[in-house]
Amino acid sequence: MKKVILVIAGSLVMLSGCQQAQEWSENLLGKKQTEETQEKEEDTNQGVTESPAEPQEEDTNEQIPAEETVPPELQLESQFFNHVKEVNGKQVIQNPANILALVNKEFALGEYKPKDLVRPKVPFVFGNQELEKAYIREEAAKALEQMFAEAESQQIFLTAISGYRSYEYQEMLLNREIEQFGKEKAVMAVAPPGQSEHQSGLAIDISSKSNEFQVNIEFGQTKEGKWLAENAYKYGFILRYPEDKVDITKYQYEPWHFRYVGPQAAKVIHENDWTLEEYFQNVKKI
Ligand code: DAL
Ligand code: ZN
Repeated sequence: MKKVILVIAGSLVMLSGCQQAQEWSENLLGKKQTEETQEKEEDTNQGVTESPAEPQEEDTNEQIPAEETVPPELQLESQFFNHVKEVNGKQVIQNPANILALVNKEFALGEYKPKDLVRPKVPFVFGNQELEKAYIREEAAKALEQMFAEAESQQIFLTAISGYRSYEYQEMLLNREIEQFGKEKAVMAVAPPGQSEHQSGLAIDISSKSNEFQVNIEFGQTKEGKWLAENAYKYGFILRYPEDKVDITKYQYEPWHFRYVGPQAAKVIHENDWTLEEYFQNVKKI
């Protein structure tokens, strides 16, 4: 690539001999060099790695910058990738407040608690009770309010069931599930403590009166469940555990569980029929 730029830049200078062309070629070369220096600096970031691991590109002069080859919606800044560190054999996310944090059976939040939890003004199944699970992060809360309001204007009545869950609460839930259904089933339904999206404050379980406020697979067949699956992305939410992606998410189908990722990523994920895992396999770090 550098060679090509040099040739083009050189020819331009020779052809026109004009000051502007010279500046143009210097800028281009300068930009490329700055990028290379930055990449080297990132590589020396000791102990903290970024994930999911990207395929190692060969360090040849033929590299084409992502900006030129990857469509803009698939270019993603480094800050939105998990920065992980191994702690006691677990991959622990070091930037857990990242709105795109990939939290799953591979990447954990540790003991993180979000700082900007607020109570969205939407109906909860438990009314006005002051419970931890009535909270989600501010940005997600605003989007949730908009989504519920738009749904209502279309005669779709949604009820929030569960938002933020602490490490300890998640631990209790998993233990209870194991006691009731055995470990094999439980691990497909409930995340281990420290590894639930609910702990990120960016997940919300939703049901409806028509489904007796239950979070079960039947919800996917209700008009509310269908509306959410089709429209949630417009507000920045994705259906996080689709029926046909169990092998990727490693969780059973959960038509009630929505994860806030912001409208841009949600649109790309929805239109490509991806999971969050697949999104990270397809975006290019810039
Ligand atoms: N039910 C989802 C996987 C959770 O426990 O976070
Ligand atoms: Zn959930």
